[in-house]
Amino acid sequence: MRQSSLVVVANRLPIDDSVAPDGACEWRRSPGGLMSALHPLLQHTPATWVGWAGGTGPAPDLPDVDGVRMHTVPLTPEDFRDHYEGFANATLWPLYHDAVEQPEHHRRWWEAYQRVNRRFAEAAAEVTDHGGVVWVQDYHLQLVPALLRELRPDLRIGFFLHVPFPPPELFMQLPRRAELLRGMLGADLIGFQRAQAAHNFAQLVSKLFGIPATDRQVEVDGRTVRVGAFPVAIDTAEMAALAARPDVAARADRLRHDLGDPDHVILSVDRMDYTKGIEQRLKAYSELIADGHVKVRDTVLVQVAVPSRERVGQYQILRDRVEREVGRINGEFGRVGEPAIHYLTQPFDRAELAALYRIADVMAVTPLRDGMNLVAKEYVAARVDDTGALLLSEFAGAAAELSQAYLVNPHDLEGLKQMLLTALEADPRDTTARMRAMREHLHRYDIRSWVRSYLGALDDSGSLLRSMISD
Ligand code: ADP
Ligand code: F6P
Repeated sequence: MRQSSLVVVANRLPIDDSVAPDGACEWRRSPGGLMSALHPLLQHTPATWVGWAGGTGPAPDLPDVDGVRMHTVPLTPEDFRDHYEGFANATLWPLYHDAVEQPEHHRRWWEAYQRVNRRFAEAAAEVTDHGGVVWVQDYHLQLVPALLRELRPDLRIGFFLHVPFPPPELFMQLPRRAELLRGMLGADLIGFQRAQAAHNFAQLVSKLFGIPATDRQVEVDGRTVRVGAFPVAIDTAEMAALAARPDVAARADRLRHDLGDPDHVILSVDRMDYTKGIEQRLKAYSELIADGHVKVRDTVLVQVAVPSRERVGQYQILRDRVEREVGRINGEFGRVGEPAIHYLTQPFDRAELAALYRIADVMAVTPLRDGMNLVAKEYVAARVDDTGALLLSEFAGAAAELSQAYLVNPHDLEGLKQMLLTALEADPRDTTARMRAMREHLHRYDIRSWVRSYLGALDDSGSLLRSMISD
């Protein structure tokens, strides 16, 4: 087995399978931010990405992708159901998002979570060089740091949580709360999106284990585990360049024309997820039409909602409710050739997304809770002429950085309606000043600076990664 000095471990591999023109199955790098960010780094060092390739058959043997080795971890149908759909997405996901839907607890799911985490840890142990660095990603794999430390005490281990980490009152509901924290404490550095999450973590560790913990570090088993906030970023320059391309500009003009050249386009782009506040947003928009504040001819809503985790009951229920509501609103307020809501459930390529961002006078990003929300950042990056208004939930991680957005509490329907109107009617000088400040921030704190700051902190001696992270 070839070994690497840098290994990323994530539930998914950063690749998609697609069908080549000759009908053969082709694996291509998916456009995810982490792979783009790590790409230059991973190429300088023999690097491996450990993850699941999708599907529940035997693990496919994958070629290297842009010089990075793909090491596949297989999932059986039972693992997929009980680990991915069950413990990860029906226990942890709702609990970590303020329990906006009821988390479910099943002992069988916990068994699967342990089993799959062990498989990922064993795979990482197998492919990492002596003294190497392993960076574990997200809530699917919270037990991996401790399991890996047992197998390979020589490694430097990082863990980053992309989703929110909840306050102690919520986390304490988990039947296996102590084991989950112990799993994370196997890392040398635990990264969160927000400082509040690091605080929640420290409080829980003191409460459950009675060991000294601050928002910056925890002393455990004679080791120091460092803790901190590292808000995830995007490839700002890449999105800006894409949005500025002449073909994307032309596509945007066409889209606007196809929408009937309205005065205002409101856009939302979400995974179909109950954390995203889609229903609250639809209600606010339909009430503004019913109240006469918004006219469908002048102001259209484009709602992109790509289906996700489709076999999980709460996601099926949400999709039914959203589609019923879109149908109701269009039936009540639309006219022939003039729907109130343009509702799309398709995945788009990056150029089409950039064209959509270009036509959005108001981008409505109103999750009830979100670790970061990259869509909000992509929109800002795409507004290369500094126009457009970002309506942003206070409960998205992005709100901590994008304070010049039009900030809203999506639970407050009247407040949401009012802020949507404010954004629609804002003075262009005001929106331009806000957008410029947000774009500057995102150019300064981009995905490369995120990777550099996290890996720089993980390598506290400064020696191991210095050569890798210098551009
Ligand atoms: P989450 O990680 O919860 O899905 P984020 O907003 O952080 O939410 O990230 C979503 C990512 O998925 C963004 O990079 C966005 O561009 C992408 N995305 C969302 N909808 C689509 C779609 N219909 N087609 C292609 N990419 C999409
Ligand atoms: O933001 C959390 C997250 O799990 C991401 O890691 C992932 O890209 C996204 O949600 C989509 O989720 P899934 O991997 O379940 O399709």
